[in-house]
Amino acid sequence: MSDILKDKTVVVTGASSGIGRAIAVAAARHGAKAVIVSDITETPREGGAPTTSEIEALGVPARFFKADVSSRADNDALVAAADEFGGVDVMVLNAGISLRSDGADVSEEDYRRLMSINLDGTLFGAQAAATQMKAHGKAGSIVLMASMGGIVGAGITVAYSTSKGGVVLMAKALADALGPDGIRVNAIAPGTIDTELLRKTPNIAAASEGFRQRTPLRRLGQPSEIGDAVAFLGSDLSSYVTGIALQVDGGLLAVI
Ligand SMILES: NC(=O)c1ccc[n+]([C@@H]2O[C@H](COP(=O)([O-])OP(=O)(O)OC[C@H]3O[C@@H](n4cnc5c(N)ncnc54)[C@H](O)[C@@H]3O)[C@@H](O)[C@H]2O)c1
Repeated sequence: MSDILKDKTVVVTGASSGIGRAIAVAAARHGAKAVIVSDITETPREGGAPTTSEIEALGVPARFFKADVSSRADNDALVAAADEFGGVDVMVLNAGISLRSDGADVSEEDYRRLMSINLDGTLFGAQAAATQMKAHGKAGSIVLMASMGGIVGAGITVAYSTSKGGVVLMAKALADALGPDGIRVNAIAPGTIDTELLRKTPNIAAASEGFRQRTPLRRLGQPSEIGDAVAFLGSDLSSYVTGIALQVDGGLLAVI
């Protein structure tokens, strides 16, 4: 489709399903040298073939690497796996969860589990990538997965919004910290994207039709549309873009 990621090794977490899967496939379609698909399981939540098969069918080398993003050691091992392809150029910290029961009364157990994946896991992955990029002298790109829920709040997603708001600020703070090394850090803030996370989280599934009706483009987003936005942020087309949260939401946050 394009060669904007030519010569780049792309690593994506949470890449067996949904948005992460689409980001990994989009990287291959945009000319990546190799793609490392990481997740806690290789089985796509929505069914179908593993992500690596889809990428290999496009003629691009792919590896599956099992890693739990909430573990610092797993993140370090994941980044080391990219050495086979000359090290990571584009690190996409996409893995994230929502809660079946979220809100002002969210339980401590659920809150800590969500934070350990959505917030801690994102920081540990960015740290692992930045350390390797600096060691290799690479002007890499790190893309964090935020959400529209990290820009505006919702009572049905108190813990989730708190985590994603943290991710938006994490991108800004890391952009400042890593910019002098030539490393860019940006976040993506998707709107309502049609994945299992949306369909299987009762609160969010129930709200999604209302979101769709308020969205200027009057439809849910497709995972591939996030994949293309990540490809842009990973590529040299965005060489002067760092510290932003790119809203990919059909215009939802532009209106009241
Ligand atoms: N779907 C949406 O509408 C939407 C909107 C905004 C933001 N997001 C964000 O996009 C990202 C992907 O969401 P999705 O809709 O594709 O969800 P999904 O549930 O379809 O996929 C998430 C993937 O992350 C993996 N994962 C879960 N815990 C993990 C862990 N500890 N370590 C590694 N991998 C783990 C899962 O196995 C799964 O493959 C998340 O960060 C989510 O918060 C989604």
